[in-house]
Amino acid sequence: MPTVLITGANRGIGLELARQYAADGWRVIATCRNPGAADDLNAVEGDIDVYPLDVDDTSTLDALVTSLQGQAIDVLFNNAGININKVPSIGDIDYDAWARTMETNVFAPIRVAWAFKDNVLASSMKVMAFTSSLMASIERNGGGNAVYRSSKTALNMAAHCLSLELADTGATVAMLHPGHVRTDMGGPNAPVTAVDSAAGMRDVISKLSPDENGCFKNYDGTAFPW
Ligand SMILES: NC(=O)c1ccc[n+]([C@@H]2O[C@H](COP(=O)([O-])OP(=O)(O)OC[C@H]3O[C@@H](n4cnc5c(N)ncnc54)[C@H](OP(=O)(O)O)[C@@H]3O)[C@@H](O)[C@H]2O)c1
Repeated sequence: MPTVLITGANRGIGLELARQYAADGWRVIATCRNPGAADDLNAVEGDIDVYPLDVDDTSTLDALVTSLQGQAIDVLFNNAGININKVPSIGDIDYDAWARTMETNVFAPIRVAWAFKDNVLASSMKVMAFTSSLMASIERNGGGNAVYRSSKTALNMAAHCLSLELADTGATVAMLHPGHVRTDMGGPNAPVTAVDSAAGMRDVISKLSPDENGCFKNYDGTAFPW
């Protein structure tokens, strides 16, 4: 069975992705900041291993790269993300929070993708998925929350550059909007369940082909405007 590596797998969408891939018989490499406290993740049954990874901390990334050296990863799911400093006006931005957001939502997933590039290219599926957001879209920009929006727009650009760089390798880089999902980040009134979001994104990934390398899609498979 294929192998998936998921960042931020201890709660929210990442936890549900881990559950569903494991239930489907995949080998799951589930990562999170504090495996010892990840009770829900540790309870997931199947072919699953939980590893420590703080995506902002290169020492934990280096350790994981060493642990997984030579192992093929079919789907690298860069899911971990933050949405802090949700302010309506540019004038209210906390610039330290913006820098932290760029670190976690942009620099970290790109760094993780590059660190596991050889593992992904050694697999049969060769997919790098990035959890982006509808809020990355400039065409559909409703304004406000410039910190989070700009981080996901930057993620899209950097991941698209990655897709061009890997174009000759057979890899498929995909930026996916998970929906507005009922998680700690999405809030209790969000319309989409983590179950439906994860199922939708898994279905999208299963149908990807290299000619879609660099795509930006909704969890139902429809394309999003940049
Ligand atoms: N929910 C939505 O409506 C929605 C919509 C569009 C896009 N997204 C994106 O979907 C992804 C998952 O969101 P979610 O709704 O599941 O959010 P969530 O419930 O807040 O979970 C976020 C996950 O990211 C992890 N994380 C944050 N910073 C990390 C770091 N430095 N290192 C490792 N893990 C880290 C968290 O771990 P800790 O428990 O250690 O904090 C947690 O596992 C994010 O990229 C988010 O931007 C969500």
